[in-house]
Amino acid sequence: MKENLNPDWLGSEEGDEIYRENIIDHFKNPRNYGEIVEAEIKHSELNAICGDMIRLFVKFKEGKVEDVKFKGNGCAISMATTSMMTEILKEKTLEEIKKLKKEDIFEMLGIKLGVVRMKCGLLCLNTLMKGVEQMEGKDGIKN
Ligand code: FES
Repeated sequence: MKENLNPDWLGSEEGDEIYRENIIDHFKNPRNYGEIVEAEIKHSELNAICGDMIRLFVKFKEGKVEDVKFKGNGCAISMATTSMMTEILKEKTLEEIKKLKKEDIFEMLGIKLGVVRMKCGLLCLNTLMKGVEQMEGKDGIKN
């Protein structure tokens, strides 16, 4: 999606400026962008509303996340939240990952999102959790 980087939804309250700059920075310079060939989690999810997609790669070593990368196409919020999420995943155990909640994503983002934009913001977490289920064989689908 083409993104207007100064829209009203990108935080309009006092004090949002610092978060807005952080979001735009992650969108323009996504951290951990790329792919991992030998990853335990390789999972893609789509935002059904807009068709934007994220593919997430997570590699574990000795029970902790050794590396994480992502690829995708999406709006500033979806790309920025995914970039931010990859930064907090390193060194986490699987159990710690499973405890991540949508509130953790919104806290990283720092601005309030409307209902439609929430789907953008949570695409990263949905991709991660579906990827975990897939890795554990709970969804019956193989990578
Ligand atoms: Fe597609 Fe945000 S508009 S993920």
